[in-house]
Amino acid sequence: MSDVVARKTIIYILDDEVITVRRLVQALAKDGYELEGFVTAAEALARVSKRPPDLLITDVRLADGNGVEVLQQVMGMAPQTMVILMTGYASIDQAVQAIKAGAFNYLAKPFRLEDLRQVIRDALKGASHARQTAEQSANSSDRFGEIIGRSPVMQEIFKTIRQVAALNCNILIQGESGTGKELVARALHAYSDRASHPFIPFNCGAFSEELIANELFGHEKGAFTGAVSTKLGLLETANGGTVFLDEVGEMPISMQIKLLRVIQERTLLRVGGVSPTAIDVRIIAATNRDIEKMAAAGSFRQDLFYRLKVVMIELPPLRLRQEDIPLLAHHFVTLIATQFGKPAPQIESSFLDPLLSYSFPGNIRELQNIVERAVALALEPVLTVKDLPPEFFFSGARPSEKSSSQLKILEQEHIFEIYRRTGFNQTETAQQLGISRTTLWRRLKQLNLVPDKK
Ligand SMILES: Nc1ncnc2c1ncn2[C@@H]1O[C@H](COP(=O)(O)OP(=O)(O)OP(=O)(O)O)[C@@H](O)[C@H]1O
Ligand SMILES: [Mg+2]
Repeated sequence: MSDVVARKTIIYILDDEVITVRRLVQALAKDGYELEGFVTAAEALARVSKRPPDLLITDVRLADGNGVEVLQQVMGMAPQTMVILMTGYASIDQAVQAIKAGAFNYLAKPFRLEDLRQVIRDALKGASHARQTAEQSANSSDRFGEIIGRSPVMQEIFKTIRQVAALNCNILIQGESGTGKELVARALHAYSDRASHPFIPFNCGAFSEELIANELFGHEKGAFTGAVSTKLGLLETANGGTVFLDEVGEMPISMQIKLLRVIQERTLLRVGGVSPTAIDVRIIAATNRDIEKMAAAGSFRQDLFYRLKVVMIELPPLRLRQEDIPLLAHHFVTLIATQFGKPAPQIESSFLDPLLSYSFPGNIRELQNIVERAVALALEPVLTVKDLPPEFFFSGARPSEKSSSQLKILEQEHIFEIYRRTGFNQTETAQQLGISRTTLWRRLKQLNLVPDKK
């Protein structure tokens, strides 16, 4: 696959005895490695910082320092470099100390060249393994923290998150239900310098106007009957952190002006309070509605809209990023199997293919639920079409409740259930139901379940 010419493995030797350095350099050069020798720690470290080797073999006793310190410095500046320590003063204690400090191995002088060769081979094997894992995780450009996605739109979103997380600006996240708005908000918080302070979500749609004010701003003692003590609002509780205003489009207009004031003045007035309290919070808002349109139509304050959307992140619905579906399905299978303490089942294409052409009105949350159900109920170590939920196939095909009697629906669901369980085998379904294939076909047609080949 690679057209890169494999480069030689680079090994540095550091020992305060010139003779030792020369002997090792000559011997190991014969093995096809590229070698450089050093007699002082200073020289060696300077070189490592410019051109980190694959392996550094160093004496513990050095003219200008000690090998364990060299090891620590190398780990800091060239974490990929493996280090082997040699010493003429071998002791178990030193060996343990060295290995704890991160040395790959430890050779007591005098050692045979053969022993050294073996240790080098082992070290390099370990190094290439470590490099692979590092590359895999670097290559997990397919994920950002807990957010999974390889589609170009998601890659762009990862880039934006990386760019804006540390900025203190307000952010508006827009996306249909279940597209990961809260997940992204949490990631923005986690990658900001507010991460050690609270992240507090608040659903603006779930409360009445007075309750919102009370929850967000808190109240002073005696502000109203029942306000027996001062209560801090979420904005104050979150001080130093992030408040996630979910469904901000549902916020009553009268509350919007209060929120705007908080954002502009960075102070708030508790309910019943007279003097403002300074607060330091970052606001990340989310909505599944088109607030821009709402603002244009006057049902959302334009000035607040502009304050909130200093940066706007738009999460696309899952049906517009199909290449993420297999990735997400595998991710959820592993995640959920682990939660259930089950081994993760394999995924057969008969399970995955229908998902690829499904529209996912509930987006990623719906996919997650489908996988959760499948993993929970699966009897075999592989997920197939039988593990997809019946509703999944009924989407758009379900007869309208009004035109069908309850009994008819039950009957249809029963037919469907058998059909699904047989892996959509018509002959077997007809047999199990004790009806002819023609009758079955007619019933399936009513259900819109006769496969029309695309
Ligand atoms: N890209 C993703 N990678 C992994 N998991 C995801 C991703 N997007 C969403 N999820 C998961 O899907 C579920 C729904 O996500 P989340 O709650 O963030 O969506 P939402 O947009 O806030 O939904 P709602 O509008 O309904 O509040 C969560 O369990 C979340 O962890
Ligand atoms: Mg949400």
